[in-house]
Amino acid sequence: MKELILGIESSCDDTAAAVVRAGRDVLASEVASQAAEHAVYGGVVPEIAGRSHLRAILPVIDRALGAAGTDLDDLGAIAVTTQPGLIGSLLVGLSAAKALAFTRGLPLVGVHHIEAHVYAATMEVLDTLRYPALALVVSGGHTALYRATSPVEMQLLASTLDDAAGEAFDKVAHLLGLSYPGGPSVSALATEGDPHAIAFPRYHPKDGGVGFSFSGLKTAVLYHLRGGDALAPTPPPEEIAGRADVAASFEEAVVDSLVRQTLRAADAEGLETVLVAGGVACNRRLRAEMVRRGGQRGLAVHFPSPQYCTDNAVMIAGLGWHHLTAGRVADLALDASPK
Ligand code: KG4
Ligand code: ZN
Repeated sequence: MKELILGIESSCDDTAAAVVRAGRDVLASEVASQAAEHAVYGGVVPEIAGRSHLRAILPVIDRALGAAGTDLDDLGAIAVTTQPGLIGSLLVGLSAAKALAFTRGLPLVGVHHIEAHVYAATMEVLDTLRYPALALVVSGGHTALYRATSPVEMQLLASTLDDAAGEAFDKVAHLLGLSYPGGPSVSALATEGDPHAIAFPRYHPKDGGVGFSFSGLKTAVLYHLRGGDALAPTPPPEEIAGRADVAASFEEAVVDSLVRQTLRAADAEGLETVLVAGGVACNRRLRAEMVRRGGQRGLAVHFPSPQYCTDNAVMIAGLGWHHLTAGRVADLALDASPK
C-alpha cells in the first residue's frame, strides 16, 4: 500500500493541505489563513470563508504536493474533512478532494474534524500511547471532553453550555481592543499582567458533574470594565486601566476551569492519559498548568506541537491513514455535514 496521504482541510477559515507518510511523518503542511479577511468583522463570516476557500484550495494543494516533492500518482489516498464545520467551507475541500480522487482513481477517505484534532495530540507518541484516554478539545467552536478508546472511537462526556473557550478569548480580545483571533493577542498581553489581580468567576456544574460554561466569565469581564456598574457604558479600549491584569486574570480563569474540569473527568472515568487539542491548546499557560497539575496526579498529558493545534491538514492526512488501513474508504457520494 502506498503510504503517502494528501490531507485537505477547509471546515472553517483556514484552507489547508498536507502530505503525511503512514499517519505520522510530515512531508509538507500548507495553511492559507483567512484571518485578515474576517478580522474587521471580529469573527468568521461564512460566505466570505466559502469564497475564499474556493480561490485558495487548488494553489494550497499544489504547494503541499510541491513542498513534499511528490505528485498525485505517488499517493495512497486523499483524506478530507467532512464534518463538523461551515457547510459552504466544507464543500469546497470535499469537492476538490472528490475531483482529484476521481480523475486519478485514488481512494477517498472522509475524516471527522474533532477526531483529527485529538489525533494531532497523539502523533508524536503513537508507539507508547495507551487507550482509553481522556480528550479535551478546546477551539473556537468547541469545548468538550471525550472518552477515546481508539483514534476513531470517542464518546462525548461533557461540553460547554454556551461559549467555547476560544470564542471567549475572541470576545474578550474585542472588548480589550486586541486583534482577532483573540487567543494569541490576549495571551501575549497577559504575560505583562498579574493573573491573580482580579478574581473572575469559575463555573462549577450544579449537579456535581463535569462541565464548562464561559458566558458568565465573559459578562464578568464586561462588568469589570464598566467599573462594576452593569449599566455603565463600556469604555473604549484606550481608556481601560490595567488591561494586562484583565487579560491575565481572564486567561487564568479559563485555564483554571479547563484544567480543573479535565482532572475531575479523568478521576471520574479512571483515565490516566489526557490528550488536549484544538486552537486553544496553543495557549502556553494551559499547556504548562495541565502538565503540572496532571503530573501531580500521575497523569500522562499530551499536546500537539503548537503548529498542529489550530486547524491544519496534517491531522486530517494523519488520521486518514488509519481509516485507509482499516478499509474505511468512501465512495464518490461522500457528503459533508455541519454537525
Ligand atoms: O481549532 P481552531 O484553529 O479553529 C476552530 O476549529 O475553532 O481554533 C481557533 C481558536 C480561536 O478562538 C483562537 O482565539 C484560539 O483558538 N486560540 C487561542 C490561542 N491560539 C489560538 N486561544 C488561547 N490561547 C492561544 N494561544
Ligand atoms: Zn478546528
